[in-house]
Amino acid sequence: MEKAKKSRLLVVDDESTNIVILKRILSPFYTVYASTGGADAIDAATELMPDIILLDIVMPDMDGYAVITALKNIDKTKDIPVIFLTAMTNPEDEIKGLSLGAVDYIFKPFSRELLLKRVELHLQLKRYSSGLEKMVKEKTQMVCELQNAILETFAEIVERRDKTTGGHIQRTQRYLWLLVDLLIRHDIYREQLSSWDLNLYIMSSQLHDVGKISIRDNILMKPGKLTDEEFNKMKKHASFGMEIIESIESKTRKNSFLEHARLLASSHHEKWDGTGYPLGLKGEEIPLQGRLMAIVDVYDALTNDRPYKKAFPHAEALEIIINGSGTHFDPLLVEIFAMYEKTFEGLRQT
Ligand SMILES: [Fe+2]
Repeated sequence: MEKAKKSRLLVVDDESTNIVILKRILSPFYTVYASTGGADAIDAATELMPDIILLDIVMPDMDGYAVITALKNIDKTKDIPVIFLTAMTNPEDEIKGLSLGAVDYIFKPFSRELLLKRVELHLQLKRYSSGLEKMVKEKTQMVCELQNAILETFAEIVERRDKTTGGHIQRTQRYLWLLVDLLIRHDIYREQLSSWDLNLYIMSSQLHDVGKISIRDNILMKPGKLTDEEFNKMKKHASFGMEIIESIESKTRKNSFLEHARLLASSHHEKWDGTGYPLGLKGEEIPLQGRLMAIVDVYDALTNDRPYKKAFPHAEALEIIINGSGTHFDPLLVEIFAMYEKTFEGLRQT
């Protein structure tokens, strides 16, 4: 049977006699490293990554308080449990040490049994908390994967019924990534965009047309141009989408993924001059989520076949978008789109 790996301890004390005593007690059970000064202890901790540090407080060059403060400021060492070993029994000193992040105090002179018990207890706590952390990470990952799978299926259901838009969701996601990336690079809406989790925003864009689930087959699947009445019914997909996402939101706690999804679904058909739907919002009243989607949604619709029209070539689609600047679309977004039109065209062809 393979022998269990020994836990590793770093003992820090300027008195070599103390180090000898500590090593004698601890070495039969643990791998023990020793440092006789603060600076050396920080180097050793960073290099060796011990499971626990036993740290003396009164040391000549750098005291234990300074050492623990430095360790807690280093990303790599900030989570290593530190136990103070000290002859100082004043409660204020103890509070100071604990508030600097020590997990425990052992007072000198200590008994062999007490030292071993306390060290073992803290090792157990450490194992337990890293096990817990690992479990939380795995569970979070699982929930994310599940959320993604449900989402994609949801989007596929919409897309499968709405046969005119095959591949629309994937393409608009690619255009959105490009547009958002260019805006950040050009310092446009940077503040707002950097407050978003962009992955969540792009992922949520899959739901922009989710309201089409509530549109009847004879309208959604009509193999030709819609009448005015039918088009008015079709327009309702924006508010239906908002209602669907609101209903999900009412069953869960506030989260930015659903907020992006709701704003996207409800505002991607609004127009800059206020003539869009469902609310007729104007300019920056229209959430940025929807203004971004509007431009990539229209570009994709123009450059693909629809039952009532053939796909327009890129140049023609570009012209329509440029002409829509300040009426249909946010002028700043059109400016960037036009500046990088070749990149969008390249992306369309991939
Ligand atoms: Fe739509």
